[in-house]
Order: sequence, then structure tokens, then C-alpha cells
Amino acid sequence: MAEQEKVLEVNNLVVSFKTDNGILRAVRDISFDLKRGETLCIVGESGSGKSVTSKAIMGILANNAIIEGGNIMYRGENLLEVSEDEFYKIRGHKIGMIFQDPLSSLNPIVRIGKQITEAMLINSDKLKLMYNDLISDDLIRYKNTITKMNIAISTEKRNLENYLNEMKAKKGLTAAEKQEIADRKKAYKEFEKKTRAEYGEKAKALKAVLDQTEKDAKQKVKAYKAQVTAEHKAAAAELQKKLAAAPESQKADIKKQIEAEKEEFTNKLKITKAEAKRRALKIMREVGIPEPERRYKQYPFEFSGGMRQRIVIAIALTASPEILICDEPTTALDVTIQAQILELINKIKEERQLSCIFITHDLGVVANMADRVAVMYAGKIVEYGTAEEIFYDPRHPYTWALLSSIPDVDSKEKLEAIPGTPPNMIYPPKGDAFAARSRYAMNIDYREQPPMFKISDTHYAATWLLDPHAPKVEMPKIVSERIRISLENS
Ligand SMILES: Nc1ncnc2c1ncn2[C@@H]1O[C@H](COP(=O)(O)OP(=O)(O)O)[C@@H](O)[C@H]1O
Ligand SMILES: [Mg+2]
Repeated sequence: MAEQEKVLEVNNLVVSFKTDNGILRAVRDISFDLKRGETLCIVGESGSGKSVTSKAIMGILANNAIIEGGNIMYRGENLLEVSEDEFYKIRGHKIGMIFQDPLSSLNPIVRIGKQITEAMLINSDKLKLMYNDLISDDLIRYKNTITKMNIAISTEKRNLENYLNEMKAKKGLTAAEKQEIADRKKAYKEFEKKTRAEYGEKAKALKAVLDQTEKDAKQKVKAYKAQVTAEHKAAAAELQKKLAAAPESQKADIKKQIEAEKEEFTNKLKITKAEAKRRALKIMREVGIPEPERRYKQYPFEFSGGMRQRIVIAIALTASPEILICDEPTTALDVTIQAQILELINKIKEERQLSCIFITHDLGVVANMADRVAVMYAGKIVEYGTAEEIFYDPRHPYTWALLSSIPDVDSKEKLEAIPGTPPNMIYPPKGDAFAARSRYAMNIDYREQPPMFKISDTHYAATWLLDPHAPKVEMPKIVSERIRISLENS
């Protein structure tokens, strides 16, 4: 795949939870990005932090969550810092989400049709949408600069504060330590000044561009509205004249034309209820719901699990999102229905050119969906690469274990279960968290966290096996055998 624009960036995200038994470390410093038009699969066993990651992006983490660090960049904003008001506009509007259990995202006592149109009518002002579209690129560029500046400064500030707190805990500082404190404070001040100056210059230029774009956009929207209104007035006047002159037998027909013209006019300025319904029916057809006119009036309980998931997908699509996050969307469905829903998600992703984060515990599903794959274990990304790299050249013992545990295509039997259980994340293990379950673990795995070793420009894995000093280890036979067979068959 060619170098593509990043639509979403997660940098060094750390999320913990307060629990009665202590702090639970759910997501421990993960970074990844999503490129325009791709599907990134996040795969890992239950409890590895997949849902916490998707909820952090959507801004719907539980109340006991603590975001300890990192940022999530989207359209020039750090999603971890946007106001609730702004988040509401982004959530469901630009980023749509589909969960495992469709019932939890549907209102049981509201008809399906209303649930689909509701989402459309929230953002029904077409002039506003037109204006936002016109200024969007320049606005993002400007906001990006400001946000990056704020992130750079706050990261540096946090480092300084951590250091100062450490020093405060000590009793009786040496002269050298006192000097260092003074030096660091000064270095921070200088860093802040320099950063503000650097970014400030750039931001000023971008702001000037944005101001001009906003002015132009206002003009364009105004001109559009004036033109549409003038056309409407002329057409309406024409029809009124026709009505006055018409014989009684034609009057009813002309009155209908007058109504239709009025509706058409309103439609150009905002999404009307009638238009919302038309669009809803169209989307229902798009997601494969038969007899949408009849289904429109039904309640969620009148739908099967697979059909309900289609409705949830329809609702996610009403706002024309550019990113779709699917968190185990087929886990609750039986195998045949699962395949249909996966096919549907692939189809709408292609047709609408969505960028997609697809979360699953099942590498078999990943094979059907992914352009790229992030393998998660115990709150960390342990391997990251293109689908091809993950399936044909896996490097982390955990990825090997996952690959060994995919049910065989022919026999449907799981070849090898992963031994042991994931660690208790209130006491995350030191070093490589998978060591205790891995037959390839070395001493260092129990002591030190492995860094991300680079295998190619797109492929990284965090395992000490990739250290130049590590003994040469072959992946398990069962994995290499499968790779050989699938390469022969392809
Ligand atoms: N609100 C919460 N309070 C405490 N722990 C939580 C909460 N939400 C999730 N966790 C814990 O965070 C870890 C990651 O959970 P999750 O992201 O849901 O895993 P999965 O990869 O299965 O989606 C798990 O150990 C889970 O128990
Ligand atoms: Mg989950």
C-alpha cells in the first residue's frame, strides 16, 4: 500500500482503572495509527485491553477510568481533551461504533425507523454542514498545530513535575540535586518559550489562511442560500399564477406541485423528516434488510440477532462517518450470520471508503478483514504489521500461540490451545508479560520489558527473541506448516 494519510493517531495511551483491589493497568502505553481507507485489526485474548482502547477513542470509558497519559489525535484535536460538547459532535458523527451486543446500542421501546432517522435529524442543517465542509481542511491544519504544541509542552511539564515530586519525597537534598532542580526548571521554561515561538509562528500563518477560508465559506453559503431562495420564489410565483388561471379540474394537481416545490426547497436547506425517512430506507436496503418499509415500523425485539446488528450498522452509517470502529461485532452471532456481517462490513467499507478499526479475539476473522494487524497482550501491543507480515512472518511467541490456536479450516478443530491464563493486571508482570506462558521465554523476559524491534518499515515486534544476542529460535512447526500450506494454496 502506498504512503497514506493518517486519519487517527493513538500515541502512548495509558489507561488504568481504580478498583477495590488496587489500580488495574488495562492499557499500558500503546501507539498505533489508522490510515485512510484501511482496516486495522486489533487482536488479542479477552482482557487484553481492546475494548478499553476503543472506548477511549469514543470517549465512553467507565467512571473509574484514569487516563494516565498519551493522546488520541483526530482532525487536529486530542480526543482525550475535547469538551463533552465537541465530543458529542465527533462521536457518532465522524466516528461510528458497532459493539458486540446490538441490543445494548438499541433502544428497546423506540421503533427502528425512528432510531435511524433520529441520528440524521440531529445534524440536519445542510448550510451548516456545507460551511463545515468548506472550512474543514484549513481548520484541521490550524488545530493540529495548536494541539501538537500543547501536547509537547504538557508532556515536558509532566516530566518535570514527576521529577520534582520524586525530589520532594527525598529528605535533605544535596547541593548537586538542588542545582539540578534549578537547571531542569530553567530548561523547561526555555523549552516552553521556544516551543511556543516555533509553533506560534506556524499557527499564525495557518490562522490567517483559516480566517480567509471562513470568510469565503460564509460568502459561498450565503450565495447558495440566496440563489436557492430566489429560484424557489420564482417557481412558487409561477405556480401561483398557473393556479389562478387554471380551470377547477386542474387546481388540485397544481396545488400538489406547489407542495412538492416547497418540499424540494426546504430539502436544499435542511434534512426534512420525509427526506430522513427516504435516506433511512435506502440505508436499510444498503445493509441488507429485506422489506425495509415494513421493518421501519418495528421494534428491536422483532429482529433476529443478525438483523439487529445490521440495524446498528445502519445507524452508524446515517451520519456518514469517516471512521468505523467495530468491537467484536460478530462474537455473539452464529458462524453463518457472522460471515454475512463480515462481508457486509467489508462491502460498506469499500463503497463508502471508510477507515476501519476492527477488534476481535479471533485471528480467523482477522484474515478476512485486515490490511494491518496490531496484536495486543496484557495492555500492550506486542506485534504490529501488515496482514501479510503477521500471517506469513510472525515474530512474537504470542502471535505464534494465537496462530496455533486458530481452528483448522478443514477439521474446524483447534490445533493447540494457548496454555495458562492472562496475568492479573493489578499486578502486571515485569518484563515480557507473556513470558510465564511462553516456552520460548528467556531469563531477561522476566526482568525487562522488551523494546519494539523493527523487522521492516511496517513490521515491529516486542520480543527479546529479536535481540541480536538472543539464540536463534524457530517458530513452532504447527505455525510454519500452516504458513507453508496456505502459501502453496494461494
Ligand atoms: N470499568 C472497569 N473497571 C475495572 N477494570 C476494568 C474496567 N473496564 C475494563 N477493565 C479491565 O481492563 C482490562 C481490559 O479490558 P477490555 O479492554 O475490556 O478487554 P478486551 O480485550 O477483552 O476487550 C481487563 O482486565 C478488564 O477487566
Ligand atoms: Mg472487549
